[in-house]
Amino acid sequence: MAQTQFTQRVFSGIQPSGGLTLGNYLGAIKRFVDMQDEGSFQTVYCMVDLHAITAKLLDPDTLRHNTRELCAGFIASGIDPEKSILINQSQVPEHAQLGWIFSCIARMGWMERMTQYKDKSGKNAEAASLGLLAYPALMAADILLYHATHVPVGDDQKQHLELTRDIAAKFNHDYGVDFFPITEPVIEGAATRVMNLQDGTKKMSKSDPSDKTRINMTDDADTIAKKIRKAKTDPDPLPDNTDALTDRPDARNLVNIYAALGDITPQAVLDQHAGALFGHFKVALSDVAVDKLAPISSEMSRLMDDPAEIDRILRRGADRAREISVPILEKTYDIVGMLRS
Ligand code: TRP
Repeated sequence: MAQTQFTQRVFSGIQPSGGLTLGNYLGAIKRFVDMQDEGSFQTVYCMVDLHAITAKLLDPDTLRHNTRELCAGFIASGIDPEKSILINQSQVPEHAQLGWIFSCIARMGWMERMTQYKDKSGKNAEAASLGLLAYPALMAADILLYHATHVPVGDDQKQHLELTRDIAAKFNHDYGVDFFPITEPVIEGAATRVMNLQDGTKKMSKSDPSDKTRINMTDDADTIAKKIRKAKTDPDPLPDNTDALTDRPDARNLVNIYAALGDITPQAVLDQHAGALFGHFKVALSDVAVDKLAPISSEMSRLMDDPAEIDRILRRGADRAREISVPILEKTYDIVGMLRS
């Protein structure tokens, strides 16, 4: 069968399950902005509110607040709702509709093998929601609903993208079509993986009970400086090459954060700061961090003062998204044999 040519299209999503952290910014949003501005892709970015209730139900007002705040975070960081299609998942009903079809394509065995499912369902899988098990099928629907060819995600989502490819391939094979693309993962490098400020072996997370472990995108300058000052480090000075950071996870994390914020390589950071003690380096790091993040956090709070404007942007995003998603869902239903009248 001749290979269908697909438009170069990027899709990615973030869950509005809590506040935004520096990890979301450096690990995801900053790359989303780069891919938007690079100009070779059409870009679709999504707040995945349907995914946000799979692990546990959220207070409804909190979910609404988080979704708007995530939208504000995207825009304040440089996502332009004219250049990119910016949407909230539940406002484009085709996500859930295609998700159902994919729940019938994916096999139980595939789903039960997902490490994120195993981690999140823990010892008591009986009590996990059905949605948590189906999560990756809905994620595949998010991506394939736009025939996205490229998906920038963190390393932890690699297995879900492989499943997305398996679902596309099985659908195409079972129906004898060449309809869904086999999506390419664009996995972040280790240097942009932002780790916990109190334990450099763990990922920075919005769900960690201690706020000292992360920098929130809404933190003000003083809070950012204080968290960096209190970040865990070791007593040795900064080395002159990145190999020497291999066994120093806390030190490596701060160097990587500095590099990502300043758009330079970790080696370039060491070229500037080799021999410095952390007391000194942290001052430099907090200057860079405040420089980059304070304008974003103040723009976020400006946007959050006008929720009606955010809602308007999301409604418009949904309309634009549906120009792509409705025909793809219609065609899918047709392939499957759902009566269209
Ligand atoms: N599972 C992703 C995460 O937690 C979020 C997500 C949902 C996503 N749907 C997506 C990411 C589609 C990329 C593409 O990070």
